[in-house]
Amino acid sequence: MRTDQDQPVRLADYQPPDWLVETVELDVSLHPTATRVRARLKVRPNPSARAAAPLTLDGDGLTLKSIKLDGRPLSADSFTATPDKLSIPQPPQRACLLEIETLVDPTANTQLTGLYRAGATYCTQCEAEGFRRITYFPDRPDVMAIYTTRIEAEKADAPVLLSNGNLVASGDVAGTTRHFAVWHDPFPKPSYLFALVGGALGHVEDAFVTMSGRNVALRIYVEPGKESRAGFAMDALKRAMRWDEQAFGREYDLDIFMIVAVSAFNMGAMENKGLNVFNDKYVLATPDTATDADYASIDAIIAHEYFHNWTGNRITCRDWFQLCLKEGLTVFRDQEYTADQRSRPVKRIADVRVLRAHQFVEDAGPLAHPVRPDTYREINNFYTPTVYEKGAEIVRMLKTLLGAQGFRKGMDLYFKRHDGHAATIEDFVGCFADATGIDLTQFMRWYRQAGTPEVAVTMSHDAKARTCTLALAQMLRPTPGQSVKEPMVIPLAIGLIAPDGHDIPLTLADGRAVERGVLVLSDPAETFVFTNVGTRPVASLNRAFSAPVKLTANLTPDDLHFLAAHDSDPFNRWQALQTLASTLLTDNVKALRAGNPMRTDGGLVAALGTILADPQVEPAFAAQALAVPSEADIARELGRDVDPDAIFTARVALRAELGNALGAALRDAYRRLSDGGTYSPDAASAGRRSLKNIALDLLAASGSSAAIALAARQYQSADNMTDRLAAVSTLSLYPVRERQAAIDDFYRRYQSDPLVIDKWFALQAAIPEPATLERVQELTRHPAFSLGNPNRVRSLVGAFTQMNQTQFNRPDGAGYAFLADTVLALDGKNPQVASRMMTAFRSWRALEAVRRARAEAELKRVAAAPSLSPDVRDIVERSLAET
Ligand code: BES
Ligand code: ZN
Repeated sequence: MRTDQDQPVRLADYQPPDWLVETVELDVSLHPTATRVRARLKVRPNPSARAAAPLTLDGDGLTLKSIKLDGRPLSADSFTATPDKLSIPQPPQRACLLEIETLVDPTANTQLTGLYRAGATYCTQCEAEGFRRITYFPDRPDVMAIYTTRIEAEKADAPVLLSNGNLVASGDVAGTTRHFAVWHDPFPKPSYLFALVGGALGHVEDAFVTMSGRNVALRIYVEPGKESRAGFAMDALKRAMRWDEQAFGREYDLDIFMIVAVSAFNMGAMENKGLNVFNDKYVLATPDTATDADYASIDAIIAHEYFHNWTGNRITCRDWFQLCLKEGLTVFRDQEYTADQRSRPVKRIADVRVLRAHQFVEDAGPLAHPVRPDTYREINNFYTPTVYEKGAEIVRMLKTLLGAQGFRKGMDLYFKRHDGHAATIEDFVGCFADATGIDLTQFMRWYRQAGTPEVAVTMSHDAKARTCTLALAQMLRPTPGQSVKEPMVIPLAIGLIAPDGHDIPLTLADGRAVERGVLVLSDPAETFVFTNVGTRPVASLNRAFSAPVKLTANLTPDDLHFLAAHDSDPFNRWQALQTLASTLLTDNVKALRAGNPMRTDGGLVAALGTILADPQVEPAFAAQALAVPSEADIARELGRDVDPDAIFTARVALRAELGNALGAALRDAYRRLSDGGTYSPDAASAGRRSLKNIALDLLAASGSSAAIALAARQYQSADNMTDRLAAVSTLSLYPVRERQAAIDDFYRRYQSDPLVIDKWFALQAAIPEPATLERVQELTRHPAFSLGNPNRVRSLVGAFTQMNQTQFNRPDGAGYAFLADTVLALDGKNPQVASRMMTAFRSWRALEAVRRARAEAELKRVAAAPSLSPDVRDIVERSLAET
């Protein structure tokens, strides 16, 4: 473990590297417990850094075997080597060749960073700081080098040997049972993009002709026997490659692009140059094993990692504070890819749901931080919803502010100006300013200031003057370490809708039109007056969610119903319904807490009924409308004094009401959408299935035993995982005989399929009833459960803490104690996954007093543990810090 972890790293302390590395020649001889790594580094002093600097290389748990400088062994007094650092205090101040030999044990590596084994397969994960667990190196992204990698292994153990770039040689090692492969990557890259894989893998192969006519070989490597499950991923890869050419003019640059699917992976996937490594969950799919949601994730993640080739790899980050430069931008790109491939409005709704569920929640709690943080203790804890999702929203706002053409000009300039370099957020935003002449100085605050801006809008209409006025005000609350905030630049896409349902032209008092319908709010308060507005319109605000803000407006329930029916912006049609549902639910939670009766909202039910019955409405959109706010959504809206049991009760009541009142229409939709054709994962078919399964779920919520029987029948007769899992998920909510039968059957059917068994664990962890915690604890002792496999931990423990609000937040604190125990047990093995699990406490201060005290006690128990990883310590300490 590293030793300097108590010292936070600060953006303000950035210094260019003292030494640069021109080329790296790695020679890795794979062995289960003693892999030998020889590194030959051509290093030279950085001309733009301080003179006569020592040569210091990072390490993490390394054992040095030998070291030479310019061909001669270094004397013991001319260097120091610890597991975490190699230092040559007085190196010659010129280019030289450093040769280092280290030994690593991949089998003992349970952290799954550096070189480790996923099953029998050797693989690496180097982002953010894992390369230093393989060899001593200036392991920072602004040191970019050209790599040549020779891998050697037993032919029988690792017939496939892969690394970045192009294969330049391979063959047998004479007189042994070993063989080798040499790979060369001609593009300079930071060490975090290095990858190596060795194992007995099968593959599928395809080809892609780039826009300039170059031929690229495409290969996806999987566990032997699973090749037939990689077809959809390959299709996604080709569509992503074409899309990046068409949407951004970006062409692939090597002769081969490889993806390797592994079963043990801390994250979703990793964009190593030319050799992406994936959690197999995001590669393998058949209709019988993967849901529509799985197919959609595979499509998006394959695209995301591929898009990093330009946004991340060709242009990388100067330092880890700039992480959103690659992640936020690449999330924006993958969101746009999906919007173009599927349904743009449905994608936007889904993305905003995720943003609010994770990023808004993070921003409202103790772990809030700027999109570009200015300090960190453990960088792995900053791969957050804020860096990713809010980072993507900032890029989207740039496009909204500059228009599609201005945005594209800025992107083109960015690729031209910074290709081959390690860049900063200033470099990125500077390209948009230079390309369009627009001043983005104030806009930069989006990167610096944490917290979700709150925008209040008051609309008034003056019939005599024929004017409509929008008074806007913005506010940003304090967040940890930032007590005073400055006003942001907030691009608000708006419309004024006349009673006939048409958008009124937006003409300001000075005669100017509002460009692209976007008002730009940059002062604390501003007023916009629109002329020639004869009758009172309804304001449609923040269309397509143009700014990631919390918006309140003086809209009446009638206005919201009008928007739900008439807004030309589909996002705001959905938003109007969500606002009505959310208001009803939060009112009812407050009523329950005060011992008052709940109310119903016939208007909302009727509006949802209209959508359900309208054949013009896209089924996926109708499904989004009928999906009432989640328990976590309601908790977030409440913001304080959160009582998950009251939230659950209010939500169950609304679902029952919908199931009852819309029963006939739901049954009709269910029949109409059960088309029985062969399964296809395309967006339209998936949309029909999602509406059908929501219909089933709402029918069951009404307490209908016929619906339970229908779900049991669908479980048995389903010809795809989407319908089968939806049916058992609906059954799982009720203590009916059919439930356990389906759960047991599910295990029998899929016991040899790890990715499906993950679903089996998650399903049970999410059951909202008091016996669940005991069930989950028992499942931790199931032979198929293991703390060593991140997917398993996420499927059981992650599902329990994230998908089961009432049981994780049991008033007796037993759910919190279970999480604390699990984190403590996991921390010694895999600190990254342990610290991610720990973030389930991120909203503990918003809980009502009894639960808050229980959560605090468990956080303090973890904080007091004798040995904690820097990862978990950082999360626990920030979670507990007084704000
Ligand atoms: N570069 C990341 C993977 C990563 C994350 C490596 C954290 C090291 C630490 C990759 O590009 C990524 O963002 N993966 C996401 C999925 C993506 C679609 C948002 C992931 O793994 O969750
Ligand atoms: Zn990424």
